[in-house]
Order: sequence, then C-alpha cells, then structure tokens
Amino acid sequence: MASLQGKVISITGAASGIGLATARLAGERGARLALGDIQAEPLQKVVGELKAQGIDVIGTVLNITSNEDVDNWIAATIKHFGRLDGAANIAGVTTKEAKYPHLAEVSNEEWEFVMSINTTGMFYLLRAQLRLMLPGASIVNASSGTGLFGRPGMAPYSASKHAVIGLTKTAAKEYGPKGIRVNAIAPGPIKTPMLARVYGETKEESKPNEESKPKEDLKPMSTIPLARFGESPEVATLVAFLLSDDSSYITGTTRATVTGLLGPPRFWQPASSRKSTYGYLPAGQELEGEAGSPRLGLTPAQKLAAAEARRLSQAQKRAQGQLHRAGIEAQKQERLRKKRVA
Ligand SMILES: NC(=O)c1ccc[n+]([C@@H]2O[C@H](COP(=O)([O-])OP(=O)(O)OC[C@H]3O[C@@H](n4cnc5c(N)ncnc54)[C@H](O)[C@@H]3O)[C@@H](O)[C@H]2O)c1
Repeated sequence: MASLQGKVISITGAASGIGLATARLAGERGARLALGDIQAEPLQKVVGELKAQGIDVIGTVLNITSNEDVDNWIAATIKHFGRLDGAANIAGVTTKEAKYPHLAEVSNEEWEFVMSINTTGMFYLLRAQLRLMLPGASIVNASSGTGLFGRPGMAPYSASKHAVIGLTKTAAKEYGPKGIRVNAIAPGPIKTPMLARVYGETKEESKPNEESKPKEDLKPMSTIPLARFGESPEVATLVAFLLSDDSSYITGTTRATVTGLLGPPRFWQPASSRKSTYGYLPAGQELEGEAGSPRLGLTPAQKLAAAEARRLSQAQKRAQGQLHRAGIEAQKQERLRKKRVA
C-alpha cells in the first residue's frame, strides 16, 4: 500500500467524484490535506468528515480559472502546513451546456469555458505549485482517455485533456532535474456526477441534447475490457501511488485506467458505420475482442471490409502474376528473334 504518511497534499475537485475519493484515501493513508473546489457546501462537508476522523485538513473555495485564487490558495497552504509535498490537480469539466456538437458547431463560449478550467486552470495550478515545491514532491494531473484518443462530440474537452498531457510532459522534463515528478492520469469512464451528467442521469437541465443522445445510442461497455464503469476509489489508488514515494522513478507518464477505450475497434470501422456521437461503438455493433487478441471478433461491417481487402489483395496478386508471365514471354520472344536474325 502506497503510504502518504506526513505528506502535505493539495487536491482540487475535492468536493466530488475522483477528487473526493482521492481526498478520502490520501487522508486515510496519513496525508495532511489542502482541499480546493468551487462548490462551497460539498467542500465544507468533506472537510468536516475528514476532520472528524482526526485528519489535518483545510478547505478553500476557489475557482481555478482565476490565477489569483490559485496563487492565494497555494500560498495559504504553504503558510498553514509549511510546505507542499504533493498535488492532485483533479478539478475539470466536460462541457458547459451538456451538449455534444461536432466541431463546426462548437460555440466560442463552450470552447472558452472548457479550456479555461481544464487547461488554463491546470496551467495556473502547476505554475503556482512548481514555484514553491521542493525536491521529492509529486504532482498528478487529471487528463482522460479522451485526452489520448479524441472523441467525436467533445472537441473542447478532448483538446483540453490533450493539453494536460503536454503540460505534464513538459513540466516533468523541466522539473525532473530538481527532483519533482509530474504525471497524468487518463481514466476511462468512472461513475461520478460528471459521468452521470454525460449520460443524462442527473438534473433535467443537464440532459444531453436531442442530436447526441449518448445514453440511448451508445454501448460503451463493448470497448471496456472489464465490461463495467470504474469507481472513483479505483482511480484514487492510482493517484495515491503516483503521489507516493513508491513511484519515485515514474515521471512524465500518462497512466490510463483501462485500455481499449476508443482504440483499435473504432478505427477499424468504415466511415459509413460511424454513427456514434460519442466515440463508443454504435448500438448493435459488439466486439468480442481487442486488436491482437486471440478472441478477435468482427462486426458485420468489419467482416465486409476484411473481405474487400482480401479480394483486392488476390486481384493484385493475379495482376502481378500476369505481369510476370508477360515479362518471361517477352524475353522468350526476344531470344527467338535474335536467333532468327543470327
Ligand atoms: N468521471 C469520468 O468518467 C472521468 C473520466 C476521465 C477523466 N475524468 C477527469 O477526472 C476529473 C474529475 O472528474 P469527476 O468525474 O470526479 O467529476 P466531478 O464533476 O464529479 O468533479 C469535478 C469537481 O471539479 C470541481 N470544479 C469544476 N470546475 C471548477 C473550477 N473552475 N474551480 C474549482 N473546482 C472546479 C467541481 O465542483 C467538482 O467538485 C476531471 O478532470 C475529469 O475530466 C473523469
């Protein structure tokens, strides 16, 4: 078990989902905590819960899109605890309006909202933390599977989470020589209020719009090797490991929680069958296995594509054979002609 005994750790997004699970686990493993979130009430609740367990914790309501909020929070953390050994930068959003338009329809407001939190907010956090951290410190940034593969209907989110990986890799190279590690996590779908909003299971106003309907149209399970959504504590253990000294030779990496998401199966699909707004396989298209797996199963569309590829390859071989035979025949004729001339 990765111990965090005595470490001072800041966590954003601590009022909900993965951030909340990380706060609970880090507290359980002996960390002293500076928790931050934009939601005041749930943040107060978790601070109260952890204090009641004897954990040394402070909570700060902040908006990570404000560099003043971020700088003041990190400064206050150092003032209170005397140092900062770790940071879990987990706060993030998928969309402003819970709509999933393709790129040409994305509004400026939507783009700016998502980028300002997931990317600019992440930059403010990293900058403030790296200015004050000492050798031995570790930072974990929340990217996403969508930050690795891209996903139709989520251009701003996907771009913002790719940017998190760019910031992570660069910071790891810049601050590695100083003994500070920086890694990213790329979770698959995890059962949190965020995921519930994406699937339209919470507040009425958060329901996805008519065109996208991800809940009805998609079968995400067909691309998840474990055939289930993850739970927040299952991501928190990964974050705790990366924050701990057990991962002392790991930096600049992005750790996925499950493989296969939006990976090879989707790329095999012919464009005509890509109906999913969300990037998972459309309903009715089940795969039995992953690329390279011995139990590879193909959808009808993939079988057709494979048959077409075989047919083309056989035709190509036949044409090459004909060409080869014609070449031999031409050489034979040439030899005969030369003989006749001689
Ligand atoms: N749940 C998933 O399936 C999933 C998958 C991949 C990546 N992630 C990433 O993990 C992180 C946590 O996601 P979650 O599912 O726990 O979401 P969540 O919505 O349950 O929690 C996100 C938290 O961030 C806080 N937050 C949002 N904007 C903020 C701001 N401007 N300033 C401060 N706090 C702010 C929210 O108040 C909330 O408490 C996110 O970065 C998300 O992109 C989630």
